[in-house]
Amino acid sequence: MNEAHTSQPLKILLLAAEVVPFAKTGGLADVTGSLPPAIRALGYDIRVAMPRYGRIDPQRFNLSLLPITFTVPIDNRAEPGQLREGRLAHDTPIYFVENARYFDREGIYMYPDDAERFIFFCRAALEGVRQLGWQPDVIHCHDWQTALVPNWLKTIYARDAFFSTTASVYTIHSLAFRGVFGRRVLEIAGIAEYEFTASPDGIHGGQAVDFMARGITYADVISTVSPTYAREILTPEFGEGMDGLLRQRQDRLSGILNGLDVDDYDPATDPHLARNYARDTLELRLENKVALQRYAGLEVAPNVPLLGAISRLVDDKGFDLIQAMLEPMLTHLNIQFVLMGTGEERYHRFFLEMAQRYPSRVAVFLTFNTSLARRIYAGTDIFLMPSRFEPCGLSQMIAMRYGSVPLVRAVGGLVDTVQEYDPIAQTGTGFFFRPYEAMAFYTAAVRAVEMYRHSSIWRGLQQRGMEQDFSWQASARAYIELYQHACALHAQAQPAPPGQKGSP
Ligand code: GLC
Repeated sequence: MNEAHTSQPLKILLLAAEVVPFAKTGGLADVTGSLPPAIRALGYDIRVAMPRYGRIDPQRFNLSLLPITFTVPIDNRAEPGQLREGRLAHDTPIYFVENARYFDREGIYMYPDDAERFIFFCRAALEGVRQLGWQPDVIHCHDWQTALVPNWLKTIYARDAFFSTTASVYTIHSLAFRGVFGRRVLEIAGIAEYEFTASPDGIHGGQAVDFMARGITYADVISTVSPTYAREILTPEFGEGMDGLLRQRQDRLSGILNGLDVDDYDPATDPHLARNYARDTLELRLENKVALQRYAGLEVAPNVPLLGAISRLVDDKGFDLIQAMLEPMLTHLNIQFVLMGTGEERYHRFFLEMAQRYPSRVAVFLTFNTSLARRIYAGTDIFLMPSRFEPCGLSQMIAMRYGSVPLVRAVGGLVDTVQEYDPIAQTGTGFFFRPYEAMAFYTAAVRAVEMYRHSSIWRGLQQRGMEQDFSWQASARAYIELYQHACALHAQAQPAPPGQKGSP
């Protein structure tokens, strides 16, 4: 099995806690659902693994139980492991780790035993592919739930003939979710006897175990989801206490921009829209605005700038700025505003109150509905993303593709995907503001609304946005290079014992 490394196409196992269309709480799931098929399309043997949560119906998704059984070591016990197999696009295999005790629950996260649940998932995925005899060259881990895998590959699996040549890539989707637990999780994970590294910011008296930090420390290669965020996280402002550790590993860190499923998100074919349109038939787009105004109970007013946002309603996404400035914008800029998303209770209250006070100009949907989301992208004129930080962000790309002009804070992936409008050169695809301040946000809104009144300028902004190539192709190639780089570094650090077979 071992000699396959050079002659066969690279074998990659991608581990994630959520994957579209099976489970999603955030943009992570969009990435893990569309990157693997894009890599498969380039001829590489990538396979995905995730837990089978209770809400994933095996029948609906046609998931077949594989005829293998194995045991998964966890907390000095052996739990039974089983896999189901399904398919993503391009015939990409996806393995579901089955275990009633850990995954047969209503939700995905937020259980007191989350650390144990995801330790189990990862270990079962590794032991499962061993049973299948499919030996990955690279394991690509995403976010804290899978971050102990690089740690394992450097400890309990380091001399395991099946995994000793397997390199690891760790992708950070957001430093905001780190997975911080007590030291007991190291026993559960079977690595209590190895070197202890405390959480880098010394929280919990230096006794805490930080999954994210371990991913960063032990992975052969670390990546994040945009080049700008990769630079920002080296600074205290964006580093969430990990900037020191990240600077130590800077030579292993890079940023690869996420792509978008451009076949799925296409205003020319999207079945949810009142009217399909493209770059050259932008005049048809107006029907979607009118339909949205009608649906949302707003005044039907084709010339009133309609601003929109689709997001989790939390500070990180800039909702404190929107809250501070919505009323002045309604009073002085004569705009309409439509919002979809859920989040903090105080934002629910605030936006509902605004919708009551301005029923013909503010509409709020405290829900997440894919069809409505697409109608908001197609029906709004300006799309707001005033994020405090934004590792990549997908909504601004969808908005541009649908001709809604983004107004964004100049951070992270927003900088890498939107170009600031330049009134002299007549270039750019959106509007920026820089300091995280309500007035800076407000003045960017003033500029956007002012430009909206000049229809030919506006059309240029929309068309340039619609022309951008956000497909996965380029990023998929960049990941392949990263995988090859990880394999090379791994081989340098740890030459495989020649021809040796066996288990730990
Ligand atoms: C996280 C980030 C977001 C990014 C997504 C996918 O949700 O907050 O910016 O687009 O992960 O990588």
